[in-house]
Amino acid sequence: MLIAQLSDIHVGGARHRADLLHAAIAEVNEAGPDLVVVAGDLTDDGYPDQYALAREELGAIDCEHVVHVPGNHDARNVGYVRFEDTFGSRDKQLRLRAGGLDVAIVGVDSSKPDLNEGEIGREHYGWIEEGFEDPADLRIFACHHHLMPIPGTGRERNQVADAGDVLALLRHCRVDLVLSGHRHVPWIWPVASMLLVHSGTVSTMRTRGFPEPAYNLIRADRERIAVELHVPGGRTQSLGDYPQEWPQELSGRQADPFLEVRRGPWLAND
Ligand SMILES: [Fe+2]
Ligand SMILES: [Fe+2]
Repeated sequence: MLIAQLSDIHVGGARHRADLLHAAIAEVNEAGPDLVVVAGDLTDDGYPDQYALAREELGAIDCEHVVHVPGNHDARNVGYVRFEDTFGSRDKQLRLRAGGLDVAIVGVDSSKPDLNEGEIGREHYGWIEEGFEDPADLRIFACHHHLMPIPGTGRERNQVADAGDVLALLRHCRVDLVLSGHRHVPWIWPVASMLLVHSGTVSTMRTRGFPEPAYNLIRADRERIAVELHVPGGRTQSLGDYPQEWPQELSGRQADPFLEVRRGPWLAND
């Protein structure tokens, strides 16, 4: 299956470039993905006119399954309400079949009004588990903020406040792919039997550590997950080709202290 991962569009921002967004969407439509994940910071300040413009621009994406999650810039003041009015629920569960794979997707709002910091929040944990409960060949989690620090982004800040618990939860849920944005640097951390895949900013010049605007195309089958970075209207670069299943001794899925801590050792396998 083919997944397009876009983030950090920042519609309405001083350094936003509509031409880059148009080029990226044209390329994505040409590629014909089965799923598009728009991983937050759709607007620059969460203003109503920016949401209207974001809806209009992103409406050009030609794909049956598009999952949007909000970012910190979208959640300014009551921006999260505008997000719901414009793109529907901030948290989403979705199942689809593509490329011969049964795919489970859970998207969660990691933002809080007027904070740049991210948090999933333990009130979401049960709901996330539910979303990944049924059998699936590929499990995808999407949120805006980063669960692991990203290189080339200066002083570490804004990371998901409960990142440790969330990483353990996602590993327990047998998640394969975590799709995020926020730091405007494309990056992959293979960790704990998952690929944490970050897209850069698709349509702004808010770029420092990684100087070019970029988005990702991800090809997945039962064997491999390959990630390719695309500069809108420009070059492409492989970000790696990874095995879909980690060797048992590296996945660490069998040794999970998190559930034992949470529920007690006798309830962990219930
Ligand atoms: Fe951003
Ligand atoms: Fe952000």
